Amino acid sequence: MFGSVSTPDLSSITDEDKNHVYDPSEDTFLLLDTLEHDSQLIVSKKPTLILEIGCGSGIVSVFSAKVLDAHSPAFIMCTDINKHAANVAQRVSQTNGQSLEIVVTDLVMGFGDQISNKVDLLIFNPPYVVTPSNEVGTKDLSAAWAGGVDGREVTNRLLPKISDILAEGGLFYLVAIKENKIEDIKQILNKQGLTMTVVLTRRSGPELLSTLRFEKIESRVADLPV
Ligand SMILES: C[S@@+](CC[C@H](N)C(=O)[O-])C[C@H]1O[C@@H](n2cnc3c(N)ncnc32)[C@H](O)[C@@H]1O
Repeated sequence: MFGSVSTPDLSSITDEDKNHVYDPSEDTFLLLDTLEHDSQLIVSKKPTLILEIGCGSGIVSVFSAKVLDAHSPAFIMCTDINKHAANVAQRVSQTNGQSLEIVVTDLVMGFGDQISNKVDLLIFNPPYVVTPSNEVGTKDLSAAWAGGVDGREVTNRLLPKISDILAEGGLFYLVAIKENKIEDIKQILNKQGLTMTVVLTRRSGPELLSTLRFEKIESRVADLPV
């Protein structure tokens, strides 16, 4: 039932684009493999709203659209702090016949509380590289990797909001490296009632990359006394 999903066509990305926008790399492809690995689970959630933060070229959002396509088409939104990424993602989505709603904003700021408890599938391949703090917060290509202390400075601003963003039963996929202190991320999100599973782990040069899946537990209607 769940055949392999083809990698999106990236032929519309030019060499000039690659000077401004993150070129899909090992971390990106680990995330695609993760979404494909979890496709049965994702489809079973019947997601109606998907949000990717930091879409870069748009490859991950387009791929998630393809995972769901035949089963349950969803509305897919993505954000990026880098305006060049929005242009490239728009082009990549058109080349692949998919529709994305792309917003240039910091994390999810542009949405206010409109997305509270509404997102069924949240995805973030963040800037996770450990760098000096003063390298964090640009709006150009370096925003793709500069993560500051523990490579967590951008991710840390999002973590407190995850439970509020996700719908009940919603899934959050996050790319992380060992230096990001995965156990600590797990503790933070456990406190919000989310469970964590490490889906895939792969070494890429010096990086030990993992994809983490968090699930917001569905609240059950309490049994009423008879
Ligand atoms: C590692 S790249 C991932 C790009 C793409 N999702 C992929 O997997 O190939 C991280 C992306 O996050 C974006 N980004 C960094 N900080 C951000 C922020 N505060 N808000 C939104 N996007 C951000 C970067 O511009 C970059 O496109």
